Amino acid sequence: MTIPKNVLTDRAMNTQTKNHQVGSGKDLTVALSVVGARPNFIKLAALHKPLARSFKHVIVHTGQHYDFEMSKIFFEHLKIPKPNCNLEVGSGPQGYQLGKMIKRVEGFLIRETPDLVIVYGDTNSTLAGALASVKLHIPVAHIEAGLRSYDMKMPEEVNRVLTDRVSQYLFSPTKTAVKNLNKEHVQGKINLSGDVMVDILKDSLKMAQERSKALDKLELERKKYILATVHRAENTDTKQRLQSVVQALIGIKETVVFPAHPRTLKALQKFNLYNRIRASRNMKLTEPLGYLDFINLERNANKIITDSGGVQKEAYLLGIPCITLRDRTEWIETVREGWNILVDVNRDAIVGSVRKFNPEKPRQRIFGKGKASERIVEILHENLAR
Ligand code: UD1
Ligand code: UDP
Repeated sequence: MTIPKNVLTDRAMNTQTKNHQVGSGKDLTVALSVVGARPNFIKLAALHKPLARSFKHVIVHTGQHYDFEMSKIFFEHLKIPKPNCNLEVGSGPQGYQLGKMIKRVEGFLIRETPDLVIVYGDTNSTLAGALASVKLHIPVAHIEAGLRSYDMKMPEEVNRVLTDRVSQYLFSPTKTAVKNLNKEHVQGKINLSGDVMVDILKDSLKMAQERSKALDKLELERKKYILATVHRAENTDTKQRLQSVVQALIGIKETVVFPAHPRTLKALQKFNLYNRIRASRNMKLTEPLGYLDFINLERNANKIITDSGGVQKEAYLLGIPCITLRDRTEWIETVREGWNILVDVNRDAIVGSVRKFNPEKPRQRIFGKGKASERIVEILHENLAR
């Protein structure tokens, strides 16, 4: 394929050429994963091993997340090979970031001509990977297809809907997700694969328990603290909502461990809320944590407060009551099963739920048995192997 002259002209493309380690043989079918943000790396960790057994697996990092704690730590701790290239896109407004990513991913795809592109979840890197590929007529597999919040103000919802629309292979973690895709009459093949995050959680728990020193470092007693994360744009971009969250967290009697996403840290500083957290006796503010430390803190928490999709799911899997700082969720089964409560950013509802929300109902296996990655690779192999 001829490379258009203007595609490989910028700095990242030059970097990419240097970092590119893919080798020249094309005997195996080439599957190329596009990742860029924290939850993408965790899902990639689940899929990499089985994928690398059947395909030549190439990893492209868009550079959406770049701090050590948001990126490299996951590759190191979860033993994911170093990406074949990092497109160094970095941060920026939605359209700017997405546009830059599409352009750079496209350049790489033109050079590499993979047989398949795999994208994960709902970040801007997911959509950029899907759009760049479909425009080049490369089939796209979407891991975690069919999730919907039905709120198009969420950048992630836009990413999900559009990625599903252009994907040829749609791997859904839940029955609800399959139903959502059927309702939209998507064109790709839908498969109820289960959730790859179950696979990686199951595989990592023992190691986390053995290796993580987070409880000692943070001087925490098992089941005597609340673990909180907040990072959604809707909760961090306006002072009113973030302030309400902060007021709730500092109003909780128990210790609250708060690994702050860089977006949240910046917003806390901008809205003069950082010092209130620092001054509060119950709050333990930390940097974002590695996966093993984080899941160990989840497992030993009394309750979890979050607006993260992945964390809601892990709370359910681990049997930890989850208080969600949103008015809706795409992981609706966790609410239906009684283990997740939606409180939006209402201070009293948050503080009240910490006291009173104590689900006991047995949990159904709604996200699969922990074999999703193998199933996905099997299907891809059947469809694509040379
Ligand atoms: C992105 C995803 C979101 C996901 C989250 C996971 C989109 C639209 N959103 O949100 O679905 O839940 O990642 O964590 O893709 N920043 C740093 N260092 C970093 C990364 C980000 O300082 O390594 C700061 C920058 O100020 C940046 C801000 O965080 O502007 C937001 O980063 P961005 O990647 O745009 O979105 P997230 O909020 O991380
Ligand atoms: N996570 C982590 N360290 C943290 C916070 C979260 O390793 O400090 C993990 C968490 O275990 C889950 C994933 O990150 O697997 C969730 O990603 P995130 O909350 O960034 O995004 P979302 O799931 O909302 O898209």
